[in-house]
Order: sequence, then C-alpha cells, then structure tokens
Amino acid sequence: MKVSPSLLSANFANMLPDLEMINASESDYLHIDVMDGVFVPNISFGFPVMKSVSKVCNKPLDVHLMIVEPQKWISQVRDSGAKIMNVHQEACLHLHSCVQQIHSAGMKAGVTLCPATPVSTLTDIIEDVDLVLLMSVNPGFGGQPFIKHTVEKTRELRALIDRTGSKAVIEIDGGVNLETGKLLAEAGADMLVAGSFVFGASDPLETISQLKQL
Ligand code: DX5
Ligand code: ZN
Repeated sequence: MKVSPSLLSANFANMLPDLEMINASESDYLHIDVMDGVFVPNISFGFPVMKSVSKVCNKPLDVHLMIVEPQKWISQVRDSGAKIMNVHQEACLHLHSCVQQIHSAGMKAGVTLCPATPVSTLTDIIEDVDLVLLMSVNPGFGGQPFIKHTVEKTRELRALIDRTGSKAVIEIDGGVNLETGKLLAEAGADMLVAGSFVFGASDPLETISQLKQL
C-alpha cells in the first residue's frame, strides 16, 4: 500500500520535527491540503507554506486542492513543489482541459470526488488521469469519521479502471486507520491518506509502517 500522511494534522507551530519524521518514515508522499474557504468551509495554508515544506521534505508532494477554479493556479502549484496535483471534479467546469494543462506543466493529474459525487462521472476521463482521489469524509477538516459507502465506491472505481485499462491509481482520503484501511485495501485502493491517525499516534513511524503493510 502507498501511504500519503496529511500535513493538515501536523503541528503548525513547529513543523520541522514532523517533517523530519516524514523524511525518516516509509511514507511514499506527503499529502498537502489547500483550502480556500469557498469550496470548503475552512482555510488551511497556501503556496508560501507549500514551498517551504517542499524544501525540507524529501517525499514528493501530493497536493489536494480544495479550491474553486483550480485551473487558475497550475503553475503556482508546480512551482511550489507539487508532483501530483489533485483537483475536485466539482470545482472544474472544464475538467479535461484542466487535466491536460496539469500534464503540460509536468505534474501528475489527479481528480478528486466528494462523497456524494458518483464514480460514473469519471467514465469519460478515467483513461486520461494518473490518479483518482475518493473523499471518504466531506472535505475541509481532519479527524472526521469514515463514510462507509466509500468501500463500495472503491470497488466500483477499481472495476471501471480494470475495464478501461486506465493506469489511474486509487487514493482514499479521510478517516483512514488500520481498520478502514484494511477494508479499502481489500476493495482495491492503492494509496491511503492519513492525517490524525498518523500525527496523533504515539509512534507515527510505526503507524506509517503498519499502513504500508495493508
Ligand atoms: C480533509 C482532508 C484530509 C484530512 C484527512 O478535507 O482532505 O486530507 O487531512 O484527515 P484524517 O486522516 O484525520 O481524516
Ligand atoms: Zn486531503
């Protein structure tokens, strides 16, 4: 299993020890949650923070943009150190064009679905994306309970990917722990985001290692 710990649950008053933990860990990515207070009812951090984090972090940044009109910010996201740029399907009027522009900027393109957005909305774009990020909570906050329907949704997405021969990776975000992670692994997930479960653990390195083994 690939693991992408979410910086949202790190200690914002002293991030360096948390970033050093990530560097020393088996995690594959660092998940960066950008919120604009419009698409979601919260504001997190933006490009200057991402850029500083990318200079210290030796893991590739998996950036999750919870913002309206993400296509306006593609070059800034790339210049702030992102390797994967995830945009919400619900926030992009011209999703195909946005995915093309992300690729032209040299990043991997991910499309994210909110809990109420069906997998079927991806039918006409699944072969063009590198990753699909399924939200297993409503975006905006860490520490929320896992929405169980995501397990069924993961199975459905796995079937769509296998049927079309798409190379898209399935990533799940929200309420991930060892229990929900196991269900998601069985349903066909490739990559798990974990915020509070990792940063709230007494031994975050061991917690990441356990998630890796799912
Ligand atoms: C929520 C964010 C998540 C969040 C997950 O909007 O997209 O990445 O950090 O936090 P946990 O793992 O605590 O549910
Ligand atoms: Zn996220």
